[in-house]
Amino acid sequence: MSRAAANWLARELKRTPDALLCLATGGTPTRAYDLLAEKRHAQPGLFRKLRVLKLDEWGGLAMDDPATCEAHLQHHIVQPLKLGRRYFGFESQPRDAQAECARVNEWLTANGPIGVCVLGLGVNGHLAFNEPAAFLRPHAHVATLSCASLRHAMLNETNERPKFGLTLGMASLLQARKILLVVSGASKRAPIQKLLSGEITPRFPASFLWLHPNVVLLCDEAARDKE
Ligand code: PGA
Repeated sequence: MSRAAANWLARELKRTPDALLCLATGGTPTRAYDLLAEKRHAQPGLFRKLRVLKLDEWGGLAMDDPATCEAHLQHHIVQPLKLGRRYFGFESQPRDAQAECARVNEWLTANGPIGVCVLGLGVNGHLAFNEPAAFLRPHAHVATLSCASLRHAMLNETNERPKFGLTLGMASLLQARKILLVVSGASKRAPIQKLLSGEITPRFPASFLWLHPNVVLLCDEAARDKE
């Protein structure tokens, strides 16, 4: 799955070298990012113009906390590819979280739309920190983290507890030209079946991907096998 995802992303970059990639973190896409970044040795030109936007962040953790999305992206993509100013994302400890979301929205208005958005699937159906709810939000916003998100394995890397989520909104995700959804592990069997049912509901935000014309879903065998 990771190799297929890395090769798919490399093909997209070949086609659109200055693409804006919006990247999820979490356990699922990490190996794909490593495999993509490894291609810099054979194909350095592939990464000269690419821009990267961080999808979401744990609000309240320090930027250098090992659990942050920042730490993950820095380690697997931003530093290996030496992106420097071609990387942008939420500050994890903003003085004013609403103002931070406004800053990200303004940046996306000026630099977007997203070319390729890499997403993972939450066990509760969340996309980024667009959590299951009676309604979803279109733009970057401060999110109340669900119990499922607060149990996420990323947080095992810290003793701190995030206070809130910072996330791009559903419209920003659905305005991406292409979406790559990566899903792995047996814990995603039920969520992937629910997604594939095709019923669209804000109680399962990933179901809104049915409204997008260009989604690629890559999953591993553990996630695909039926119970
Ligand atoms: P995972 O996270 O890739 O670590 O399973 C996905 C998510 O919770 O959004």
